[in-house]
Amino acid sequence: MSMTTNPQSIADMPAQHPHSPVTPAQARGRFFNTGNAFNVILPPVPDHIFTSEPIAALDPNTPTGFTVCDISDQLGSPFPATTPLVLVRYARIRAGESLQTDFVASGMFYYVIAGHGTTDGAGTSIAWAPGDVLVLPGGVAFTHSAGHTDAVLWVVSNEPQLAFENLRAPTADNSVTDIVHFTADEIARQIELIYQVGRDEGIAGSALIFSAQRQEATRNILPTLTLAMNTLPGGTVQRPHRHNAVAVSLVIKGDRCFSVMDGKRKDWAPWATTITPPVSVHSHHNGGNDQAMFLIVQDGGIFYHTRAMGFEFTEQPG
Ligand SMILES: [Fe+2]
Repeated sequence: MSMTTNPQSIADMPAQHPHSPVTPAQARGRFFNTGNAFNVILPPVPDHIFTSEPIAALDPNTPTGFTVCDISDQLGSPFPATTPLVLVRYARIRAGESLQTDFVASGMFYYVIAGHGTTDGAGTSIAWAPGDVLVLPGGVAFTHSAGHTDAVLWVVSNEPQLAFENLRAPTADNSVTDIVHFTADEIARQIELIYQVGRDEGIAGSALIFSAQRQEATRNILPTLTLAMNTLPGGTVQRPHRHNAVAVSLVIKGDRCFSVMDGKRKDWAPWATTITPPVSVHSHHNGGNDQAMFLIVQDGGIFYHTRAMGFEFTEQPG
């Protein structure tokens, strides 16, 4: 019996070209099949914790500018990225100095880690203080100025989402969000209210979800990105669960706290940015006595929109 030299499977076929194209547009066509099209392995989103970046941003010797949490090399991303759709930066602005932003994003979140200052743009001036959260539209130039002391900000955008499709930012008159300012006092008041009212076991945690007048119907803050302040009382654990959205979190308070992601313990660090990979089983643990607090950005809006959130509690420990 003779063996055929034909490919054993359509999985072994190289990309097919048009046999006799007549035009350049016809010549550009390529063909794959069910056997060979779906085995492109992208690098996984790592369960990374950024600790050197906040240390650099909090260092008084660091000049005014950004420290970018860029792991595009690990992600195989051709543009800067912290996760496939999200980019995180820390900004340090020295006393009396300013920092300009004009990101190609549809929107941005700012958390004030330290210092007082102002953000000016779109005909508005916002005075901010430690613990405040700002939501700003993309495609608009802003000037962020520190007051009498240095300021440190956590800055999150969806620049990689736009870069993926080579999209431009919205213009000022068709932005997806207004400027929204959540003060530290109001955030604390709203968290207190959540604890006063209480919750049942079917609710994933005691997180405060940020929304705004224009986005109230969606209960979200940007079309793709969600923003939440999560809290965890001392000595408690947030139940293991998973979801298709990735999470990037800023550790605001978290003495002796850690996360468990797909069985791996990840210790928190002051002002660190943590990545919770999509679909990973994870739980958050507060081994200290004080309430932990962490600000979470997820690309959950895109999964709500596509009806593919994939949230579930899991029996296995995170
Ligand atoms: Fe989660």
